[in-house]
Amino acid sequence: MLKGTIKIDGDKSISHRILIFGALSNSKSIIYNLSKSDDVKRTINILKNCNFKIKTNKESTTVFKSTVNQKIKKFYCGNSGTTARFMLGFLPSIGISGTLYGDKSLSKRPMKRLLNPLLKMNIKIKKKKETLPIQFYKSNINPINFTLNHPSAQIKSALIFAALSLKNNSIIKDPFKTRNHTENIIKFLGGTTEKYKKFTIKGFQYTVPGDISSASFIIAAALLIKGSNINIKNVLFNDTRIGFIKVLQKMGANIQLLNTRIECFEKVTDLNIRYSQNLKSVTLKKSDIISMIDEIPIFALIACFTKGKTRVNHAAELRYKESDRIKSIVFNLKRCGAKIREIKEGFIIDKSKLLYNTSVENFHDHRIAMMCEILYLVIKGSINNNQNKIINTSFPDFYKHLGDLYE
Ligand code: S3P
Repeated sequence: MLKGTIKIDGDKSISHRILIFGALSNSKSIIYNLSKSDDVKRTINILKNCNFKIKTNKESTTVFKSTVNQKIKKFYCGNSGTTARFMLGFLPSIGISGTLYGDKSLSKRPMKRLLNPLLKMNIKIKKKKETLPIQFYKSNINPINFTLNHPSAQIKSALIFAALSLKNNSIIKDPFKTRNHTENIIKFLGGTTEKYKKFTIKGFQYTVPGDISSASFIIAAALLIKGSNINIKNVLFNDTRIGFIKVLQKMGANIQLLNTRIECFEKVTDLNIRYSQNLKSVTLKKSDIISMIDEIPIFALIACFTKGKTRVNHAAELRYKESDRIKSIVFNLKRCGAKIREIKEGFIIDKSKLLYNTSVENFHDHRIAMMCEILYLVIKGSINNNQNKIINTSFPDFYKHLGDLYE
């Protein structure tokens, strides 16, 4: 069983964003509890390659006021879609030219949906390519009036970062209500979000709340393993990110919120999670999907242990993540005995009897790897601990927390 209390590393989405705001600030900015994930390290390295001075110690990360001076022309994004997309908006607008490239998985992910609005802003891109590597040039950009046509916070934020280099107003609307951390940080720094334009960003101090997406894997283990009772402290509880918790509570999960508060314009809470028998199955609504998009793999695993039929539909975006997550979820859970069927925009699961199968595959996708590791723990009653490298993409403390909590 899982017993005890942990504090999760800083949210990955917020960490990327706050580093870029640190780079834009007019003096030293100090960030506490920054994510230690490989993805966030990619963003740090690219900023450093543009001459931003960033120092990390045990307690905090400091971004110093710097003058952009490009040494490196090729910028490596690794597996990080957020880094690649943000940098495509940010770098050309602050006068940087170069090529962004990524690993095998990132090189397959769609970029055209972002390039179209960026080209409208006059960001210069060598050739209209659909995937990385993409060559871009420092650009004199135009403001934009744009309504998102894909539910993507990465696209929204890339456009906002470009718009923040201009004196004229840009309007960027998000009818999908995707995660709104960029907007919250702008408000925290004294800017406005009805219209986006350059504003003076003073040096700041910011504490990143714990990553709710990382926490979701530990939450699942506690819900599924008999006798578990754990606390997770300082978890981000932003309305655009908590679909997973809300849906689980509807299913009858024992999840309590303690000491919910606002810190740096973000809602934060402590969570108590207890083993939950007899979880009910649900049909996810279209509006649930956006606020739990990264939690669908671990949600699918939990769904296998519920009584009736679980339907996940309207989740086509899952096909464009680090892997085609509809395929990789269905592949792995089916291998382990789940009654799961792929549909065009999701999958349907019936109550299943799962057994761990050694031929599970992570598809080079950290969230699929963690889903399989939690499955192993639930079925085998021990920690597998052999997917460190891929899991470091988002959650380097994954095995440490499981080891600390597991009795
Ligand atoms: C993210 C947005 C989401 C999410 C990703 C992080 C962000 O991607 O899946 O893990 O930090 O803005 P999309 O914006 O492509 O949906």
